[in-house]
Amino acid sequence: MVVDNKVTELNLRKKMKHLSGKCIVITGASSGIGKEVLDRLCDPAKKNRILACSRTIEKLTGYDKNVTLFNCDVSTKDGVDQMMEKAEQVLGTIDVLIANAGAPYYEKFDYVNWERIQNIFNLNTISPIYTYTKYLKHLNGREGHMVFTISAMGEMAIPGYTLYAATKFAMKGFQEAVRLEAPKNLKLTAVYPVSTATNFFKVGAGEIDVGHPFPIQKADVVAERMIDGIEKAKKHVYPCRVFKPSKLLMNTIPPIKSVYWGIEKKRLKRFLEKKAALDLKLAEKIKV
Ligand SMILES: NC(=O)c1ccc[n+]([C@@H]2O[C@H](COP(=O)([O-])OP(=O)(O)OC[C@H]3O[C@@H](n4cnc5c(N)ncnc54)[C@H](OP(=O)(O)O)[C@@H]3O)[C@@H](O)[C@H]2O)c1
Repeated sequence: MVVDNKVTELNLRKKMKHLSGKCIVITGASSGIGKEVLDRLCDPAKKNRILACSRTIEKLTGYDKNVTLFNCDVSTKDGVDQMMEKAEQVLGTIDVLIANAGAPYYEKFDYVNWERIQNIFNLNTISPIYTYTKYLKHLNGREGHMVFTISAMGEMAIPGYTLYAATKFAMKGFQEAVRLEAPKNLKLTAVYPVSTATNFFKVGAGEIDVGHPFPIQKADVVAERMIDGIEKAKKHVYPCRVFKPSKLLMNTIPPIKSVYWGIEKKRLKRFLEKKAALDLKLAEKIKV
């Protein structure tokens, strides 16, 4: 089920009028939600200057000189340090920093592997938290706006996404606590998308396609609602309008949640069966 639809060009332009003439950093800008955000903010008429980051950002082409593409791995301290250094070099002051890069694992969490646990937390949790500290220091009392792409799974877990949900619940907690002590010069916006049609599910599950949790939104709709929320300096942005009422309904009538989780448990079971079959095939190939 695809919720929502296109916003007209006119609406988009109307909405964009406040987010102009700004220096902006976007992580995870090479695909999905980040790229849609980038594409909306980079219009030269808006006079934004943007540092767009990801590990494979050089694959993007056709941007004007107001967009600087910067390759970096933000799951490492060095990557974030380099990004901030580059941003200061290219943009000077960063008005808006959108910490959007992130990735899931889709799996049964039944293994012992410190590095695997560490890796997903590095990218989804430690990186945006560390970036926040660097950004505060960079601002040094000037006005700024930090945006975190969290997830609906930062509020409600789904089978198969144990570690991913843990990283996003952590971010939900972080933004909640840090707001209580954040200085007045810093605005904070946390975004909670539901399933969005991007590379996300392929990154999580590889070639095995068992669909995705519903409802699903298009990345352009998520980006537009995200930008709208940033412009209005909203504390929380829920791009899918049925998420909050559905969550309330599920909490009020728990059997509804059980049914939803039941569907997702079946999806995970299908995934694990397909994966086991694939692994077996691979093992036989190696033997031959
Ligand atoms: N799609 C969904 O269903 C969904 C739902 C809720 C929340 N979200 C969140 O939305 C954000 C964007 O995800 P998406 O759906 O747009 O997925 P996507 O299309 O896979 O985009 C992820 C972006 O993050 C970048 N990235 C990944 N690892 C990185 C690293 N180590 N260093 C720098 N950049 C890195 C990727 O680029 P490179 O590979 O080039 O590095 C890519 O640009 C994530 O935080 C995700 O958790 C997604």
